[in-house]
Amino acid sequence: MDKLVIQGGTRLEGTITASGSKNSSLPIIAATLLTGKSPFQLHRIPDLKDIATFRSLLHHLGAESTFADGILEISTQKVQSARAPYELVKKMRASIYVLGPLLARFGHAEVSLPGGCAFGPRPIDLHLMAMERLGATITIKTGFIEATTNGKRLRGGQIDFPVSSVGATGNALMAAALAEGTTTITNAAAEPEIEALCHFLVAMGSPITGIGTTTLAIEGQPTLQPVAFNNVFDRIEAGTLLAAAAITGGSITLNDTEPEQMQAVLEAFSQAGCTVSTNGNSISLESPRTLQPVNITAEPYPAFPTDMQAQWMALMTQAKGTSLITDHIYHERFNHIPELNRLGAHIDITSNQAIVHGPQHLSGTKVMSTDLRASASLVLAGLVAEGTTEVLRVYHLDRGYERIEEKLCRLGARIERQKYDEFS
Ligand code: EPU
Repeated sequence: MDKLVIQGGTRLEGTITASGSKNSSLPIIAATLLTGKSPFQLHRIPDLKDIATFRSLLHHLGAESTFADGILEISTQKVQSARAPYELVKKMRASIYVLGPLLARFGHAEVSLPGGCAFGPRPIDLHLMAMERLGATITIKTGFIEATTNGKRLRGGQIDFPVSSVGATGNALMAAALAEGTTTITNAAAEPEIEALCHFLVAMGSPITGIGTTTLAIEGQPTLQPVAFNNVFDRIEAGTLLAAAAITGGSITLNDTEPEQMQAVLEAFSQAGCTVSTNGNSISLESPRTLQPVNITAEPYPAFPTDMQAQWMALMTQAKGTSLITDHIYHERFNHIPELNRLGAHIDITSNQAIVHGPQHLSGTKVMSTDLRASASLVLAGLVAEGTTEVLRVYHLDRGYERIEEKLCRLGARIERQKYDEFS
C-alpha cells in the first residue's frame, strides 16, 4: 500500500493548473452509453483511480476506450450487456450512473445495489423514483436493481425531487435524453458538474432549458450523436490547493479555473483573512498573518460544498478562535475529526456540528485515511504540522486527486510517496 510522508512547515508558493473534474467526468462517461454510434472524444479527464474503475465497468459492459494525456476516446458501439455486477459497483457508488443510460438505450438494466459508505447512509431511492416517473418498472432482487421499460420507450414526465441530489439528477437527465417527449425536473441539482453533463447532452442532440438552475426541462430524442467535449475544472481540487496555500501561510495562483463556480468557498477564504483575487480564469490567494475563524455550513450548490468541509476543518485548526462546521448533506461526514485530533487539533462533535478550537499547534504522527476528502484534510494538516506526518491508506486520496503530491511539491511542499506493509 502507499502512504504519503510529509515534512511539515514549508510555505507553499507558486502557480499551478487545475485538473479536470472527477465528478463531472463520471456522468459524462456514463452518458456515452446513450448511443451506439462512436467514438466520443473527452478532453481534460483526470487520471484518477475512480476514472479507471469506471472505465473497467464500461469495458465490462462491452465498451472500448483509450486514455492518454487527459483524452479519453471511448466507443460504446459494442455494448450489449446491461448488467453491472457487484464486484465493480462495490468499488464506486457512482457506478449507479449507468442505470439511466442503459435503461434508456436497451429497455432494461440490472445494476448491483451499491454498498455502504464511509460517511453514513447514501440511499438511491431518488434514482429509482426518477426512472419510475419515466415509465420504468423497478424491482430489487438478489441484491440487484432490475429496471425495465416493459418493451416500450421511456416517456417524458415530471420528476420532483424532495431532496437535491447530484446523482439522481444526472441519472434522470440521461434517461430522459432518450425518452419520448419532454421531462421536467424540479429541485434539480444545480452543481457545476450537472451543468457540465447538461452541456454534454445538449451537444449530443438533446435540448435542455434551465441549465445551471434547479428546474430543468429536457426534450428526449430517438437517437443521440457522439461528440468531442471539453470537461470542466475540478472545483474541489482547486479549493483543496487554495486551502494548502492558506494553511501554510503561502500564496498561490491557480490557472484554468472558473472562479464564479467557487464563490462560496472563495468568500470563506476572504472571511478568514486571505486576500483572494480573480483574473479571468485564474484565482490567486495570499494568506494573512493570522487566519480568522469562519463558520461554514455545507449545503447544495451554490452554498459551501460538502466535498470541501473536511479540508476547511483542517484549515480552521489554525485560525485564531472557534469555528462551527455543519454538514447538511452528509450529517455523519466527520471521520477526519479523530485523526485531526491525533495530530493535535482540538475539535469537538455535537450531533451534526463540529466545533474547532483554534489555533492549535499540530505535530506529526501516523494518521489513517478513511475516505477521499478526509484524506485531503489530513494532508493539509500534515503540511503545517511540526515534524513528519504519515498519511496511510492513500488509495482513498488517489480516487479523486490527480498527482496531488506532485502538485504540492511543485509549490514547495516536502512530500514523498512510499510503499508500506499495513500488517507489519
Ligand atoms: N440522497 C437520497 N436519496 C438518493 C440520493 C441521494 O436521500 O437517492 C441524499 C443523500 O443521502 C445526501 C443528499 O441526497 O444526503 C445528496 O446526495 P447526492 O445524491 O447529491 O450525492 P451523490 O450524487 O451520491 C455526489 C458526489 C459526492 C458529493 C455529493 C454531494 C459524485 C460522483 N459524487 O454524490 O462527491 O459529496 O454529490 O455534493 O459526483 C466526493 O467527491 O468526495 C464525493 C463524495
